[in-house]
Amino acid sequence: MTQDTTRRAMDAAKDALAAQDWSGARRLLAPLVAENPHGVGAFMLARAELGADRPEVAAPLVAAFRAWRPRHVGARVLSARIHLACGELDRAEADARAAQELEPERPGVVALLETISAARDSSEVDRHLAVIDRGLTATRASGASAEVLHAAAALQRQAPGPGWTKDPRQAKIAYFHHAGDLTAAVRNYDPHLIETSCEFDYITWPKRIQEYVRGRSVLDVGCGFGGYGMGFLVAGAAAYTGLDPAMELDSSRAKNKRIRKWADMGVTPRDITEALPAIRLVQASSEDCTFEEYFDTIALHNVTEHLIRLEEVMAGLARLCRPGSDVVFHHHNFYCWNGHHLPPNQPAQLDDQDPRHQLVYDWRHVNAVDDVADDHYIKTNLNRVRLDELREITERYFDIVRWDEIPSSDATLSRLTPQVLARVRDSVPDITERELSVNAVLGVARLRGGGT
Ligand SMILES: C[S@@+](CC[C@H](N)C(=O)[O-])C[C@H]1O[C@@H](n2cnc3c(N)ncnc32)[C@H](O)[C@@H]1O
Repeated sequence: MTQDTTRRAMDAAKDALAAQDWSGARRLLAPLVAENPHGVGAFMLARAELGADRPEVAAPLVAAFRAWRPRHVGARVLSARIHLACGELDRAEADARAAQELEPERPGVVALLETISAARDSSEVDRHLAVIDRGLTATRASGASAEVLHAAAALQRQAPGPGWTKDPRQAKIAYFHHAGDLTAAVRNYDPHLIETSCEFDYITWPKRIQEYVRGRSVLDVGCGFGGYGMGFLVAGAAAYTGLDPAMELDSSRAKNKRIRKWADMGVTPRDITEALPAIRLVQASSEDCTFEEYFDTIALHNVTEHLIRLEEVMAGLARLCRPGSDVVFHHHNFYCWNGHHLPPNQPAQLDDQDPRHQLVYDWRHVNAVDDVADDHYIKTNLNRVRLDELREITERYFDIVRWDEIPSSDATLSRLTPQVLARVRDSVPDITERELSVNAVLGVARLRGGGT
């Protein structure tokens, strides 16, 4: 990169940071950091990552910059904020105090030290949560009191620790921290549902795609039981609609994703919809459902591989988008080692004496398509779309703005021997090693010609 190009990229990144366009800043800065991991670019990229709520990514960047500029006050302050966001309060305070010593009048440092001390006093959080819990019935019946709103505002200022997908207390902090409208947040607050969402692992996916979720109305197509709704609110969604033909509105049974078992969630989709105005759960298939509204984000988690009428669904989703809406999908690739969605899920579970395993293991499911009956799960529930075909169908309606191919684990990839490849090619002659190796795709698509 020439000096001129670097300066131009740096200027554009400054503008992006000022506009809080974190992904724009990331795009501009990543090449600069690749070229010089200790330079100012690393410091700026750390700011972007912290802004995007990824303190764990920001931490090594600012550390690299500080190795080069140990007395840089801004970097000290940034380190303090990153440690704070990670819940590392001792280190946060040490950095903030060091910044204060280096530059006593540094703006923002006093406020930062105050935030750190508030975070340190964890009983503070519990006190605010208790105020909100005590007022829950009254809030739902007649609106939030000033005391409840004050407690919610205090939690909104508090950065959650990085464990907010599994630690209920951190998840409750995250719920308020990510909320846009506090009055709506207290009205839709449900501590029990947040606790269950942590236990059943329904927050990890919304967190992973948080940049497409926070402050937005989300339609979750093929949402399953409906348990993801609160997970999306914890990640900051303004409203959530979940749609699934298999949803049983009066059943509290749901898949606990942590232990991969069905369990009682203690609440039904109908209960959730009736109690919380920001969550709507609809039992319907995407093709049969007509909404008279647009959504900011349409999410599909492990759904695109199940849609038998994939093209029709994509066309329908396009009608629910306005310019700038995102369709975000996690696609589990049929042609990978466990693309059959049946046991065994990973090589460690393989029992080659088990006839169910024998049919599908080591990519035998791809060969099995020719042999199994038409009512077999592989044929009735999996569309067996190939990756390039999925891309092509998506691109008939959308521009693809992100397409991350996520590789399978090393344990499964090591099983793709030349013999296996040859056997799979007996059934699908043009199949590539790439198609057999990619476990999943994280894709983001925007309405074709729909702008940003
Ligand atoms: C593997 S599950 C994923 C559920 C949920 N997204 C999750 O990650 O836990 C796939 C879901 O897609 C749903 N599905 C299948 N065809 C659909 C369609 N045409 N419209 C909406 N959902 C559909 C199924 O009922 C099923 O719940």
